[in-house]
Formats: sequence, structure tokens, C-alpha cells
Amino acid sequence: MASSSIPDSSAPAHNAVSGEPALAPELPGPYGNGAASATGTAAPGPSGVPAKAAKVRTHHLQAAKRAGEKFAMLTAYDQYTAQIFDEAGIEVLLVGDSASNNVLGNETSLPITLDEMIIFSRAVTAGAKRALVVADLPFGSYEQSPQQAIASSVRLMKEGLVHAVKMEGGAYYAPTVRAMTQAGIPVMAHIGFTPQAEHVLGGYRVQGRGEFAQAMIDDAVALVDAGAFCVLMEMVPAETAAAVDAAVAVPTVGIGAGNSTTGQVLVWQDMAGLRTGKMAKFVKQYAQMRTILADAAREYADEVRSGVFPGPEHTF
Ligand code: KIV
Repeated sequence: MASSSIPDSSAPAHNAVSGEPALAPELPGPYGNGAASATGTAAPGPSGVPAKAAKVRTHHLQAAKRAGEKFAMLTAYDQYTAQIFDEAGIEVLLVGDSASNNVLGNETSLPITLDEMIIFSRAVTAGAKRALVVADLPFGSYEQSPQQAIASSVRLMKEGLVHAVKMEGGAYYAPTVRAMTQAGIPVMAHIGFTPQAEHVLGGYRVQGRGEFAQAMIDDAVALVDAGAFCVLMEMVPAETAAAVDAAVAVPTVGIGAGNSTTGQVLVWQDMAGLRTGKMAKFVKQYAQMRTILADAAREYADEVRSGVFPGPEHTF
């Protein structure tokens, strides 16, 4: 893309992009949502800027949607993957509660705790310099009340140092999203298939088909009206996802939701081929990390057993 709405590493930190239109008017904010920087000056263009690392902000994602640009999001749960993905230009890193299945070895995302999410969040924010880091509110950490959601989010932001939280659920949670946003917590809404509700939804099933599409649009609109800066849709027919995207001014992110969303997200172990077993239809593997690691481990073990490693160059 010639002129991306998302800053490159030569753009200044904490500044809005020059000429960027204001945020979607329906988003709440006590003083409006103008795109001026904290200093009141528009940020300079891509050349001649201080060599500071840029930060991806929620308003850059908003601008991407307005400009018809796409952005990439990946899960990350530790400092090295965060660093690698950040340096590779991934705009949004998700400390997903999928750490429950993908790191801790649980069968579902339900058992992971807020304390565990904070540890993963802290590791990711330690590794990421530019990406917007979003952490999931885990099951049991927000459902009881807006106050519980705010308290849990504050811990993720204060202790995990993340920039935003993601929360599963539909219009029912609009009052919670409103309270969170007003408390200074950027919220990414997660609708469609919501893994924390898999026992209510009857397993991993596509949501929002046919006559149920309108309910999903209504959910998205209610959550955005309440302040959600982005709507993530999981396992939704492409047609429904496109209708949701058209109904909201904020960016959307898809996982198994077709190609009309502003962004796409994948679990990194799926994307990089670390995980075994049957892959969901929406997964594309861009590497075979499992084979690479297994080959390296085998070679190492062979060299240890044969006495080749450590050689003189690895010996004090
Ligand atoms: O936790 C997670 O990894 C997620 C993605 C599937 C979007 O919520």
C-alpha cells in the first residue's frame, strides 16, 4: 500500500496522521473525537520525522477502515513471538484467552484465569514496540457487572500494560462496554462464535447464518454505539460479516468471516504450523514450525549423543 493509514516505523509515536479524518462520530468521547495529536499539531508525513518508534493506535485502525485498507492481527503470548510479529509489521497483537488451549494445554479457553492472562499480557507488551496490544477478558472476569469488567480490564492495563481489551458477547453487554469506554478502556467486541460460550452454542459452529444475520448486525451496532472501537467476528458467513462491516463505522476483524472485514486474525500456532491435528477451514498455514522445531531438536539430541556438541567453539 502506497500510503497506509497505519504508521510505519518512521512515523512519530503518539501522533495522529496528518489530514486524517475525525473518528466515527458515533464513538463516545468527552471532547469529541478529532484526530489532532496531544500537542495540537498534525503529525508530519512519512518523511523527515523524528526517528521514534511509531505506535499503532485505535484511531489508525479506524482510519484504515475509512481508507479501505486492511490490517493484520495475530495472537501472541510471549515476548519473542510478540517481538517477531511486531517487527514483521503485524499491527495488532492479541493476547487471546486461547492461551488456555495453545499454551497451557487446556481443552478450552474457559479455565484460564485473569492472573494468568496478566502474565501473558506482560510478556507480550515487553516484546512489542509498535503493535496495538489487546488482551482478552477471560471467562468469569466480566459477566457479573460493568464494575467487574472495569476492575478486570484495569488489571490487564495496569499490570499487563495492554492498550485495549477484547470482550466476548452481544448487545446484552452494551451497557458494560459503555461503562468501560467511559472509564478509559478501549473495547474490542467479539461476536459470532464466542469460544467462552461454546457450551451454550453447542460446540464450534458457524453463527449468523440466514435469518440470524440481522441479530448479529444488531449486536454489532449496539456494541459500537456503546463505544466499541472494533468488532471482531468469528466463524460467521462472509455475507453476514460483510453486512456487519457495512453497518458499523468502526473497523471489523474476521477469523473465519470472509474477506470483507478491515482486519484478519489468526492464532499464531495455527498460522505458523506449530499445532497438530485437524485445522479449522479458516486456517491457512504459512510455515511448518512444528517440523522445523522437531528437526532441530532431533539434530541437537543426535549431536549430544554422539559427542559432537558441545564442540571446542562452545567450550570455555
Ligand atoms: O483468544 C483468541 O485467540 C481469540 C481469537 C480466536 C480471535 O479470541
